[in-house]
Amino acid sequence: MSRADIPTFTLNDGNHLPVIGFGTYQLNGREGIDSMMAAISRGYRLLDSAFNYENEGAVGQAVRQSEVPRDQLFVASKLPGRHHKYDQAVVTIEESLYRTGLDYLDLYLIHWPNPKQGLFVEAWQALIDAQKRGLVKSIGVSNFLPEHIDTLIKETGVAPAVNQVELSPYFAQDKQRAFDAKHNIVTEAWSPLGRASALLEDQHLQEIAARYDKSIVQIILRWHFQLGVLAIPKSSNPERQKQNLELFDFALSDDEMAAIKRLDRPDGRINDQDPAEYEEF
Ligand SMILES: NC(=O)c1ccc[n+]([C@@H]2O[C@H](COP(=O)([O-])OP(=O)(O)OC[C@H]3O[C@@H](n4cnc5c(N)ncnc54)[C@H](OP(=O)(O)O)[C@@H]3O)[C@@H](O)[C@H]2O)c1
Repeated sequence: MSRADIPTFTLNDGNHLPVIGFGTYQLNGREGIDSMMAAISRGYRLLDSAFNYENEGAVGQAVRQSEVPRDQLFVASKLPGRHHKYDQAVVTIEESLYRTGLDYLDLYLIHWPNPKQGLFVEAWQALIDAQKRGLVKSIGVSNFLPEHIDTLIKETGVAPAVNQVELSPYFAQDKQRAFDAKHNIVTEAWSPLGRASALLEDQHLQEIAARYDKSIVQIILRWHFQLGVLAIPKSSNPERQKQNLELFDFALSDDEMAAIKRLDRPDGRINDQDPAEYEEF
């Protein structure tokens, strides 16, 4: 497929994002840059990073070295929990930008709500102000539950453009997706492949994959697409990177979507990280 064939989502702030992106967790240094450049040359246009991945430098380097113009690429990063206080959040966003060496970031998210710490509204205000200053084009959150997003909207009047949450066939997030959709927030899926866990050997998915002569991974990523979810699979392998974009030449039937829905389970998270309890700094 040609690169231009990746459709886009329109965000609630009018900006656009490709419907599938590239996860960069654990892609660091020279090797990481090579993986990201391979991914860009295979057609990915959105790179998902975070301050805590310690690879914003590699992401920026890949973007600068790539032949694809900057305005056709989308770079996302995330604010860590230890810098939610307003002044620290402002400096951290600036630092993220300097680390990439780019003029702006396309998307900046609060990485985790850390509700016990209770500072995410301050952090959100810093993101709102960074967007006004042009440092970041769009702003959003990650791992936010409905009650956290309700608080942001109540306190600031600004809804996130994106909510990036753990989401795979084993943890389908029906309620969170419905809430996000109601607020015109794009739901993004982290660990869409369950980080290559047992999900990739699921018998039901295998049966569907055989019908289309596709891999289980392609079925999973097509399922995300048909749900209207932006998945960000990570692969360090150029052949797998390419396969993971080959989703637009087939469609799952309603029955197949329903069969995949039946795989959803309450304990389907890979590491049991419930954002109501779990905090990350
Ligand atoms: N917001 C958050 O809190 C949060 C948390 C976790 C992750 N994330 C983001 O989400 C991204 C994706 O999640 P993830 O990296 O945890 O896991 P993932 O994308 O679900 O899975 C990555 C694993 O799948 C393997 N893989 C990829 N394509 C494959 C294929 N076609 N066939 C077989 N195996 C394949 C990869 O191996 P190879 O590399 O060897 O191909 C790697 O081991 C991250 O990179 C990060 O950007 C965000």
